[in-house]
Amino acid sequence: MKCKICKAEAIVALRSHNAAFCPQCYKEFFSRQVARGIESQKLFTRDERVLVALSGGKDSLALMLELSLQGYNVTGLHIDLAIPVSSAAARGVVERFCAKHDLKLMVKEMAAEGLPIPAVKDRLNRPVCSACGKIKRHFFNKVALDEGFDALATGHNLDDEVARLFSNTLRWDTAYLSDQGPGLDSEHGFSRKVKPLWRLSEFETANYAFLMGIENHYAPCPYSPGASFTVLKGLMQNLEAAMPGRKLDFYQGFLARGRPVFARREAEEGVQLAPCTLCGYPTSSGESCGVCRIRAALLNEG
Ligand code: AMP
Ligand code: FES
Ligand code: ZN
Repeated sequence: MKCKICKAEAIVALRSHNAAFCPQCYKEFFSRQVARGIESQKLFTRDERVLVALSGGKDSLALMLELSLQGYNVTGLHIDLAIPVSSAAARGVVERFCAKHDLKLMVKEMAAEGLPIPAVKDRLNRPVCSACGKIKRHFFNKVALDEGFDALATGHNLDDEVARLFSNTLRWDTAYLSDQGPGLDSEHGFSRKVKPLWRLSEFETANYAFLMGIENHYAPCPYSPGASFTVLKGLMQNLEAAMPGRKLDFYQGFLARGRPVFARREAEEGVQLAPCTLCGYPTSSGESCGVCRIRAALLNEG
């Protein structure tokens, strides 16, 4: 198998792009896809400051490295959830990665915020994952706004996005369908949110991370029953195997022709948001936001 670009020995074949690449040309392919993803959706510019949420997983680390190599002004943000074993391992991976590549990093500790995830878990009668996700998003947004960043970037890839889109479509969740996508403008006290890896699959990102020597964080969260959207991702993999390129087509078609329709509808209905009375974060509940309610519940208990 020969590299499509330079005819050297190829190490990876991509059916969706009908191409095989050698290591160097693969890295260039990856960079082009990230650049196209940013430019076509006008996610951010080189004059803006981007806060990149780093979990310790390969996607967000690959994203951070690639953005810095492309000359973007990036700072990492790691949320230390205070989960025994796994949080220390994840934080260690992120800290070593940023030190190795000389990248700026901020760490926000949930224990110091009165929100260690094990305590949140003990308090809830349901799986902690959705509360944990809510807490993480709350602090992504808070740090981005407090520190004056122009955008908050996450490592979500094409498989994450397509699985989420499929899930939202199966439920015809028009509110979620109206603002799902690689870029969400800042509004109502929310920072701009961007997903620059939206054109790249999990496999393509993993391959880049491997070629760039990115250390992987293997410790899975002890509380999550498995990766999210496992069933839907499996269905999409089967579709992609039978019809290479369909995943990206489906997603791009949604952005071009689906999302605008849902967005118009949602704008007509208009959900009212007001600042949380305790922290100022936008909430639809009228008083304090979900995170402040969790924090208050833990305080009352303690
Ligand atoms: P996940 O929902 O775990 O697949 O994570 C999706 C994205 O959220 C990752 O690619 C990161 O950008 C971000 N993220 C998840 N967990 C953390 C964390 N503990 N600290 C910072 N960013 C995170
Ligand atoms: Fe949040 Fe597992 S990482 S519950
Ligand atoms: Zn609040």
